[in-house]
Amino acid sequence: MARNIYVTRRISQKGLDILKNRYNVSMWDSDEPVPRDELLKKIVGCDGIYCVLSDKIDAKVIEAAGSTLKTISTMSVGYDHIDLSMCKQRNITVGYTPDVLTDATAELTVALLLAASRRIVEGVNEVKSGGWGTWKPYWMCGLGLSGSTVGIVGLGRIGLAVANRLKPFGVKRFLYNNRTPSQHAPLIAAELVSFEQLLEESDFVVVSCALNSDTKEMFNSKAFEKMKSSAILINTSRGGVVQQDDLYKALKTGEIKAAGLDVTTPEPLPTDHQLLSLRNCVILPHIGSATDDTRETMTILAAENLVAGIEGAPMPHQVKI
Ligand code: DGY
Repeated sequence: MARNIYVTRRISQKGLDILKNRYNVSMWDSDEPVPRDELLKKIVGCDGIYCVLSDKIDAKVIEAAGSTLKTISTMSVGYDHIDLSMCKQRNITVGYTPDVLTDATAELTVALLLAASRRIVEGVNEVKSGGWGTWKPYWMCGLGLSGSTVGIVGLGRIGLAVANRLKPFGVKRFLYNNRTPSQHAPLIAAELVSFEQLLEESDFVVVSCALNSDTKEMFNSKAFEKMKSSAILINTSRGGVVQQDDLYKALKTGEIKAAGLDVTTPEPLPTDHQLLSLRNCVILPHIGSATDDTRETMTILAAENLVAGIEGAPMPHQVKI
């Protein structure tokens, strides 16, 4: 009997062909998210769901799909949008796309760090608005990486790839507080320290951990109090790791120097959000993995995960539940 697959977003032809060659595929043919009501209707009786990180695959969605649902495959390395305990209860396998986006995300993390520390966006705005006067010795000064200490919260694949890219800038020490095992990147010399010590001693704090109950809002007023007033926070993981009202206060009062965020809560961030009023906060629209090649590779891997899950074979990348 042919299996039914629901794809929650328009994906590339290559990814779609992998599924269409085998299954009945119904796809929400748009770059914009599928409306919740439509999703709840379309997934009834499907065997597999192909989703992206902005789809909330919660208990209601899983229940609506019914007992046929065998596999969920997300085109993302993060899977905090999927109710894993519900999947476990119902024996539903979950696929994700680690590794293939490590380089792109690490590259963007470095770009964001440099943008925040060397005040790139502020500088461009000054040029455009006529704020660029004669050369001034102390104008637009930022923080350099040479001789600095970089703390990485969550030294997994992406954290390691960031560290490897930052090393040639002359970083003196790398600190980390916890590590996700990874065979994919060579280890740099990094010191394991407590979260508190990492906050106290780092010039740059790079957040690269998954969002879960341990990491939710771990960057709050208590954490910002411990950081150096010259420190810069970079977050390319998930917005939920940062308490944004506390971050706003810390940036506004000079408790920390600057921040670079590729992820926020919510996404998109409303254009009148208080964080957007700050000169020392660079915000990007969740583009960590956004290179053409990376997104295509993610698309295909997510399709392959889904096929394996539906066929009951080992997935190339399956979430351990
Ligand atoms: C992911 O895949 O989880 C990333 O956040 C995308 O950039």
